[in-house]
Formats: sequence, structure tokens, C-alpha cells
Amino acid sequence: MNVFGKIVDIRKARWANRQESWGLVPTMGFLHEGHLSLVRRAKAENDRVAVSIFVNPTQFNESSDLDAYPRDLQRDLAMLKAEGVDLVWTPTIEDAYPTGYQTNVTVTDITTKLEGASRPGHFQGVTTVVAKLFNVFQPDRAYFGQKDAQQVAVIQQMVRDLNFNLNIVVCPIERDEHGLALSSRNSRLSEDGRKRALCLSQALRSAVAAYNDGEKNCTTLKLMMTAHINNVAGSKIDYISIADRMSLDEIEIIENGALLSMAVFIDDIRLIDNMIIE
Ligand code: PAF
Repeated sequence: MNVFGKIVDIRKARWANRQESWGLVPTMGFLHEGHLSLVRRAKAENDRVAVSIFVNPTQFNESSDLDAYPRDLQRDLAMLKAEGVDLVWTPTIEDAYPTGYQTNVTVTDITTKLEGASRPGHFQGVTTVVAKLFNVFQPDRAYFGQKDAQQVAVIQQMVRDLNFNLNIVVCPIERDEHGLALSSRNSRLSEDGRKRALCLSQALRSAVAAYNDGEKNCTTLKLMMTAHINNVAGSKIDYISIADRMSLDEIEIIENGALLSMAVFIDDIRLIDNMIIE
């Protein structure tokens, strides 16, 4: 497995065998089974697999959140080697944003809702860095997790709008045996916090069950989820949403499927989760 930081080395490795297909898995490191599921899917669908590891400062709203973001490069590299990854790209801040850097990629409408409303500027940071990764690496396919449902929608919009020549592959959410969606942030939860954090997936599951039993009214479903979360000590709801899967606009009655999503603080750690009604 080759590990390179410099763009010139990445380009050389990427184009060494032009006829081979490449899958790229963009990450911010501190890898878990969720990332590895993307890597395995990329391996199954491409001749070669590359993973980028870069904690992108421009997508963090609070410097405290950026500082607290967990990092362990040596552990990440060992995990990726064990998965048979061909190439790991570890750009430095100076590689990504050299002195004099002044360009950003902005997706407008769908970035103003949900995560975008709570984290102004977050998606501009994401789309800018992802556009740079795509431009440098030019993968045939790029792999993202459904856990960041809005991120997926925003990146798909950017790829359509800017005519990037690649396929975005969206992989299902990986959960632990109790239903907690895997996230690098889970490592900051206490043992008890981890148990209480199950309220996100439980609330979503109970709303999907109520929908399957005939409840289509989103106000009722959101009240159910809110009550469930508010019952849990140390929880604070940022948002609970039932939205159209493409536009991410809130809906009142579920007629053509929906994205149920939420962001909830458990002991000041912000967690997100979602489920789709087809
Ligand atoms: O999902 C993430 O880990 C990040 O937002 C991404 C896509 C790697 C961009 O920094």
C-alpha cells in the first residue's frame, strides 16, 4: 500500500495504469466499520482503491470541534493495509490550502436546510474539498455513507451541476449491534452516553413503524420522535426533520417517500442519524 501526501505523487500513482478503474473513498480518518464498508464496496467494484484521509478544517464551525476531532493515522493505515487498499492520500493543510488560496465551491439551495442551517459554511467546506479531491484524483467512482444523508445529496447536486465525470456510490448506514449509527464522534461518548445515544435510532425506528402502521402525518411523527428523545437524560435536539428526499424541503404528509433525519446532542456531543421511507 502506497501512502502519499503530495499531489504530484498521487497523480503519478493514479495514472500509472490508465486502463484500470479506481474507486476513491474520501474520509477524515479515525476509521471504523462504516468506512471499511465503503472500502470493501469500492474494492468489489473497481480494479484499484484509494482512500483519502484529511481532517478538513474548513468544514468545522467551531475550532473546539476541529481540535476535538479524533485522529490516529497509524491505526487508520494499519486498518487500510489489512483491507488491501492500494493507495492512501494524506494531504497536509498546506497541500490543500496553500498560501493565497481563494476559491470555494458553493451549492446553494439544499445546503441551507438541516445540517446547513445548524452549521453555516459547513457544506461549502465539504464541497470545496471534495471538488479538489475529485479534480486531483479523477476517480471512476467515489464512495460515501448514507449516514451523512444531506452531504450525499449536496455532493450529488455538485457532481450534476459541475459535470464531474464519475459515479457517486452511496452505501448503507453501518450500525453497532444495538442500532447506534457508527461515527468517529461515538468515541467521545461515555459508556452511559453510548447507551443513551441509542435514542436517535430508536426514535427513527418507531416513526418508521408508525408510518408502516398507517400514520402519514409528519407533525404527529415528529412529535413522537421529539417526545422519545426528550425523555432521555443529557439529550438536546438540534433538529428533527421529515423531508423530501431530493429537495430536502419539509413535508406535511408522506406520499412519495421521505428522509427522516435528526441531529441530537448527547452530553454536548452532536450526533446525526437518518432513515429513509421508500
Ligand atoms: O464525510 C466526511 O468524512 C467528510 O465530510 C468528507 C466527505 C471526507 C469531506 O471532508
